Amino acid sequence: MLENIIEEILISEEMIQKRVKELGKQISRDYADKDPILISILKGGVYFLIDLTRAITIPHTIDFMVVSSYGDSRETSGIVRLVKDLKEDIRHRYVLIIEDIIDSGLTLDYLLKSLQAREPQSIEICTLLSKPSRRKVDLHVKYLGYEIPDKFVVGYGLDYQQYYRNLPFICVFKSDVSVISKQ
Ligand code: PRP
Ligand code: MN
Ligand code: MG
Repeated sequence: MLENIIEEILISEEMIQKRVKELGKQISRDYADKDPILISILKGGVYFLIDLTRAITIPHTIDFMVVSSYGDSRETSGIVRLVKDLKEDIRHRYVLIIEDIIDSGLTLDYLLKSLQAREPQSIEICTLLSKPSRRKVDLHVKYLGYEIPDKFVVGYGLDYQQYYRNLPFICVFKSDVSVISKQ
């Protein structure tokens, strides 16, 4: 039962969809005639990407990467392994990385370095959520949906042990349930 796992709804479905539309408009303005490529990091980023791509009114393409980070499943260790690479060549392209959340920033820090070596025209970050209080590395975020406090959240792509990604809102996971996950 959902009420057993949800402490509170932090960002409603309406709030998410409103912000996605605003970001889509902004990106459409900023990247008009630039033919950007939107890169989503599976799995969390894909829900945001799919809504965002339909809110963007200019021509653009999409691609996917899979990375895996070792260690505790609730935190990235900073050691990131590339599991699936892009299909497209990004040389001279305007790249926009689409993520669900930036926590420590280590995943994106690794990805930025690896993608920058391929000489794109530009590379920027678009994330729905950010937890600035958790940041371990400095990142320039061009497009941000919402800043959130340091709470364990699920929904709209964010998982707890791979589940609950399909929830249409962002909610705080009940801590008594999440404690079990550490054992
Ligand atoms: C989560 C989230 C971000 C990353 C953020 O992905 O989707 O990609 O962690 O953490 P960081 O800023 O501390 O690096 P996760 O590794 O859980 O994989 P998933 O997207 O498949 O859930
Ligand atoms: Mn992710
Ligand atoms: Mg995850």
